[in-house]
Amino acid sequence: MDAIEMIKERRSIRKFKNEKVDRDLMKEIVSISRFAPSWGNFQVARYTLVDDPDLIRKIADEGVHGFNYNINSLRNAPGVAILSYVKGKSGRLEKIKLQPNQEHGWELFDTGIACQTFCLASHAKGIGTVIMGVINQDEIAKIIDLPSDQQVSALIAYGYEEIHPKPTRRKDVDEILRFVD
Ligand SMILES: Cc1cc2nc3c(=O)[nH]c(=O)nc-3n(C[C@H](O)[C@H](O)[C@H](O)COP(=O)(O)O)c2cc1C
Repeated sequence: MDAIEMIKERRSIRKFKNEKVDRDLMKEIVSISRFAPSWGNFQVARYTLVDDPDLIRKIADEGVHGFNYNINSLRNAPGVAILSYVKGKSGRLEKIKLQPNQEHGWELFDTGIACQTFCLASHAKGIGTVIMGVINQDEIAKIIDLPSDQQVSALIAYGYEEIHPKPTRRKDVDEILRFVD
């Protein structure tokens, strides 16, 4: 699949076929996601994949602040990836002391890049995804028994697409771009 076509054609998928995704395929997608760039090449992103229907239901019931939109997406998803990061690494350099404001946020930046890479790799392999930010990180960490050195960043529900939604609107390029002379 052409890279530009892949970027433009990916959609957030909230309706999935009732068909489990093979774990080997998901392993391949995570393996591709490893090629995402990261601060200092520390590769702090971690992926916990859940394909047990009872556990997905528990995440839907207890992990999204009762947000119906996400509950419904999760209830029909055959899988959910919990994206987390290893805390306290990104944003730091051994030899150079950065100001705290420069350190801030890079671990989320790293997992954001990892997240998009995972979604694009999934799309290229025929798997639909939707990123979820309306989540209760602490509750989810408990449900999946996340190691204490990690922090939950986002959920990504995944599965075979039931429908491929129409493109969502994008701002005009002149609204988001400026060149400075
Ligand atoms: C950081 C982030 C958080 C998001 N949170 C949610 C969410 O909680 N629930 C949801 O249904 N979609 C969520 N989305 C998906 C966006 O709504 C979606 O990407 C946007 O509307 C553009 O549509 P598209 O992905 O189909 O191009 C999130 C996307 C991002 C990047």
